[in-house]
Amino acid sequence: MLVCKNLSKKYGNEKLALDSTNLKIETNGVFALIGRNGAGKTTLVRILSTQLMPTTGKAEIDGMNVVEKTGDLRNIIAVIPQEARPPPWTTPKQLVFSYLLWRGFSMKEADERAEDALRKLHLSEDKNKASRFLSGGTKRRLLVATVINSGARILFLDEPTTGLDPISRREIWGIINDLKKDCFIFLTTHYLDEAESLADRIAIMEKGKILAVGNIDELRSRMKYQYCIRISDDFKIKLKEGEVVESNGVKQVLTTKSEAYKISKHFIEKGAKFSINPVSLDDIFYYFVKKPLNEEVEGE
Ligand SMILES: Nc1ncnc2c1ncn2[C@@H]1O[C@H](COP(=O)(O)OP(=O)(O)O)[C@@H](O)[C@H]1O
Ligand SMILES: [Mg+2]
Repeated sequence: MLVCKNLSKKYGNEKLALDSTNLKIETNGVFALIGRNGAGKTTLVRILSTQLMPTTGKAEIDGMNVVEKTGDLRNIIAVIPQEARPPPWTTPKQLVFSYLLWRGFSMKEADERAEDALRKLHLSEDKNKASRFLSGGTKRRLLVATVINSGARILFLDEPTTGLDPISRREIWGIINDLKKDCFIFLTTHYLDEAESLADRIAIMEKGKILAVGNIDELRSRMKYQYCIRISDDFKIKLKEGEVVESNGVKQVLTTKSEAYKISKHFIEKGAKFSINPVSLDDIFYYFVKKPLNEEVEGE
């Protein structure tokens, strides 16, 4: 279990970066922490991975307090920080090999493990090239190669695909799907499609607070409204239950099943152009995040 209890972090005199964060999740599969820039994702990752002290509150991973058991925890975790880039003049082989030596493997074992990791991530051909000549996607794959044979069974990947092209993103997704068989992956992202396709469980973070946790069905069932109707025409909508929100010039009606049924019928009769779907992670995220923090969320 990974447990955070009233975990807070304040940098100097700034406002709280983490504000009494509470979280309880199993340490298996893929967990995605989603939130916009500045929500507090990296701060939480840095505290959980023993790189940063919380201001108040506590956090434990599999019974180990992140402040008291840093040595034990560091043996079982590996982190790829958000800002990590391979050193420009180091080759993939040198980087993976030296990281494994640093993790405590013998020269021989580090060499074998490095070769194996490079092979698994299709980096063997480029293994002796200075990293500065690799593409952005290949650099990210290289960072993943450093950790996959490190013996860590908990991996923190902080925004592993930010700034990558769609093909490289898919490659990283494939790697994460392979890794999750043996490891617990704690992923942060602001790409909601990434969270939706990779994660078994998702937490929504905003202004240093976790607003909701669960798999997508659980998150959806906690919403007041389960259906989303998108309308491109300029129709006036009278609603008994639901709310109208506007996103990118498209009107969206979030509503209940019975109301959705009535509205669709009305639109069909009027010949309006519209689409109707169960709410997506985008809608769920938007719904939770736009609520004032002190407003009670349905189902809590
Ligand atoms: N070293 C720091 N010093 C001061 N403020 C920081 C520092 N790191 C992060 N913050 C602030 O803490 C908040 C949360 O940041 P961060 O954890 O990086 O969010 P995220 O990863 O979700 O973008 C932001 O308001 C950010 O400006
Ligand atoms: Mg971040």
